[in-house]
Amino acid sequence: MIFKNADVVLAGGVERLDIRVEGGKIAELAPKLKGEGVDCTGLTVFPAFIDMHVHLREPGFEKKEDIESGSRAAVRGGFSQICCMPNTKPVIDNKVVVTYIKARAKEVGLCKVQPIGAITAGQEGKNLSSIGAMKAAGIVALSEDGKSVVSTGLMANAMMYAADFGLKCLCHCEDSSLVDGGVVNEGYYSTLTGLKGSIRAAEDIIIAREICLAESLSLPVHICHVSTYSGVQLIREAKARGVQVTAETCPHYFTLTDEVIANFDTNTKVNPPIREERDRLAIIEGLKDGTLDCIVTDHAPHHEDDKNVEYNLAAFGISGLETSFALSYTQLVKGGELTLPALARAMSKNPADILGLEGGEIAVGKVADLTFVDLNEQWTVDPKQFASKGKNTPFAGRAVYGRVKRTVVDGEVKYEEKRK
Ligand code: DOR
Ligand code: ZN
Ligand code: ZN
Repeated sequence: MIFKNADVVLAGGVERLDIRVEGGKIAELAPKLKGEGVDCTGLTVFPAFIDMHVHLREPGFEKKEDIESGSRAAVRGGFSQICCMPNTKPVIDNKVVVTYIKARAKEVGLCKVQPIGAITAGQEGKNLSSIGAMKAAGIVALSEDGKSVVSTGLMANAMMYAADFGLKCLCHCEDSSLVDGGVVNEGYYSTLTGLKGSIRAAEDIIIAREICLAESLSLPVHICHVSTYSGVQLIREAKARGVQVTAETCPHYFTLTDEVIANFDTNTKVNPPIREERDRLAIIEGLKDGTLDCIVTDHAPHHEDDKNVEYNLAAFGISGLETSFALSYTQLVKGGELTLPALARAMSKNPADILGLEGGEIAVGKVADLTFVDLNEQWTVDPKQFASKGKNTPFAGRAVYGRVKRTVVDGEVKYEEKRK
């Protein structure tokens, strides 16, 4: 298979090239290859996106999402590979659940699904999960996502065990005694709405704790969904002194501020909460200077029943797989903050490197995971069109640029937009 005349996003820039795919790999990459092929004039090709932070909800919460609907949403969003968080029912804390998810994902056969194991059994914060057995069954990382490991001693142990198995801990940073039932960022808009606020320190204290552990133990740690300006600064300073810390953020943290809660739309309820302009700008700075390595979705699909309730009772989370690229491209590249290669690093290369996954680069010999995008196409976010069961997005009605046209996984077309 040859893709012709595409604008290919390489590490150093964008070049008009043909791509020949053979045996699931990129076999040739050069201008004007011989032979027939698919004309891709007008399309830009990225190394397919890799989302290292997704909630697929299966097993246990299939009303919200399942492996099939989540995989469909992923390829529709341009992702060839997604890593799924363990807060399912049962929790991903043993090899049986890991094996089930991998088998089901293979059966669905759309994108690669990489399970993440819980740090503690049942995510109860008491005893470590069966880390070695889960590693043997194929987990790519550990996380307690949804909450933090409360005991610092247990977290230190987890980091040491994880390292013994070549795994990293992906840390959701939240001191629940400080959050104390808060549902939004504490500030002007929490006062205006009367919704209970949560201060930045609730996130920052655990970011600082995980950095201290990584530094003292000389081990790596990864910080999930950074939302505060002060958290960005903690990570920047830690990186500057050589701490092995990496970090991610999500599109909602660099596109929205907490004024969106003023109409009590529960689709804006997410954990950590959407914060203020100062935070939003610092997150963009963090992406620009490499303090924040990755853009992830924290795809958290919920059923209407979980969201169509009063704000305090609504579930936290945003369905993100099908808007992530367009929001990121529109806000960051069209906004003049990042180049296309820098966006490709944040959405593909860096997640691959952090977790040791294949992909992340378009080069001869690499896996043929490719995402074809029309950067000039403007479209309007319409959750009714989502393949995900989760229609919960605060971006409904928003005009964005950059439409995913085709997603190729291991050399096979797994998504192609229907002609209009
Ligand atoms: O908003 C969120 N939703 N934050 C989390 O940490 C968990 C996630 C979920 O599982 O719904
Ligand atoms: Zn989280
Ligand atoms: Zn999450």
